[in-house]
Amino acid sequence: MDPTGSMVVDIGGGTTDVATISLGGIVSSTSIRQAGDKFNNAIINYIHSNFNLLIGERTAEDIKIQIGSASVEKAKEIESMNIRGRDLVTGLPKSIDVEAVDIAKAIQDVVQDIIVAIKETLEQTSPEIAADVIDHGIVLTGGGALLKNLPEVISEATKVPVFIAQDPLDCVAIGTGESLKNIEVMRRSRK
Ligand SMILES: Nc1ncnc2c1ncn2[C@@H]1O[C@H](COP(=O)(O)OP(=O)(O)OP(=O)(O)O)[C@@H](O)[C@H]1O
Ligand SMILES: [Mg+2]
Repeated sequence: MDPTGSMVVDIGGGTTDVATISLGGIVSSTSIRQAGDKFNNAIINYIHSNFNLLIGERTAEDIKIQIGSASVEKAKEIESMNIRGRDLVTGLPKSIDVEAVDIAKAIQDVVQDIIVAIKETLEQTSPEIAADVIDHGIVLTGGGALLKNLPEVISEATKVPVFIAQDPLDCVAIGTGESLKNIEVMRRSRK
């Protein structure tokens, strides 16, 4: 409810929702269908076209969580990972090593789309709100916020400090519960 502006970026499975907030209401917002699932798709496609190997959704998810990095540069510090899938040539199971750098490159388009959405939302806000966001930083929520090196990459691109919310996977549910305790205030702020 503060009169200062803040920005929240919620990176879920299906969508990334970006909003600047002030006085308990949304000032500007964007929602794009680029989030966790698209990271997984990009990983599946990369493994398919470069290794002729078919992997499932769960393997893609494991790869993303274990070695996925929003930064190609920082991915050099992450060890490779052994994964299993079905060889599309022989039809048989096969295991290969994938490099974190290659996975980081494979998911770059999605990372960049998220950054563009954040920049556009910042551009739509008043200079005062933008100045507040520069002072207080951007808060990331949702499971996608846990992608390695994502805060640094967003911060570098926007020149704004970026933080991960406490409990990024649960904070939306916790916050909804909190807001229900103040339902009267919420009603007033919607008018
Ligand atoms: N450590 C991690 N690194 C990267 N991604 C992660 C990590 N942990 C979870 N995720 C991803 O976070 C996403 C789920 O996040 P969340 O629970 O916030 O989404 P959701 O609220 O169900 O989706 P939406 O908001 O789009 O409806 C999944 O794509 C999951 O793969
Ligand atoms: Mg969500």
